Amino acid sequence: MKTICILSGTDRPGSVALKVASYIKPLYEAQGVEARVVSLEDFPLDEVAGGKYGKNLPRVDAFRNQVIDADGIVMVIPEYNGSFPGILKLFIDHLPFPDAFWKKPIAFIGEAAGAFGALRAVEQMQMVCGYRNAHVYPERVFLQRVSSIFDEEEGIRDETVSKLLRDQIEGFVQFVSQVEELQSA
Ligand SMILES: Cc1cc2nc3c(=O)[nH]c(=O)nc-3n(C[C@H](O)[C@H](O)[C@H](O)COP(=O)(O)O)c2cc1C
Repeated sequence: MKTICILSGTDRPGSVALKVASYIKPLYEAQGVEARVVSLEDFPLDEVAGGKYGKNLPRVDAFRNQVIDADGIVMVIPEYNGSFPGILKLFIDHLPFPDAFWKKPIAFIGEAAGAFGALRAVEQMQMVCGYRNAHVYPERVFLQRVSSIFDEEEGIRDETVSKLLRDQIEGFVQFVSQVEELQSA
């Protein structure tokens, strides 16, 4: 069975990103994959303090393995100051180089208070993941003015966005399988 890691891209307590990640978990499971939610709230920030790049950091390794061992990654990214949260970049900067995202299928959901639904944050992260040779799934979902469009009980209130999300989930599960078939051919 394929595994999908749904990465909540912020450490902000009570974040919408984590609520969105938890909301989509059963939707992924309904597609016949194992889905796990990983939140950057649990990233062991104390262990990296002082810039310990390239050092042996057992708690960072344990945390990151939950993400990079998955067959595919869905990043749920809020917009902070016209970009993605710093903790998400810090997490990526502590991944093994160059292999962590090498040919890894990655999909994106943006969410923001503003009218662009974290378009800037997602596109900037697509650039980072492209640099790290990930297979970026092209169909992105943007939750604009997220507090009016999303509720953790009700889900997505807008039918068009709801369909985009369902299509992304179905399409990404197929994409993960197709990437694996290509790599083993
Ligand atoms: C530090 C910070 C910076 C923010 N910057 C932006 C921004 O540039 N554009 C925007 O639309 N919303 C911005 N917001 C609002 C968030 O995008 C919005 O509240 C979002 O739902 C927060 O996501 P989270 O709950 O997952 O942290 C910012 C929020 C925070 C905490």
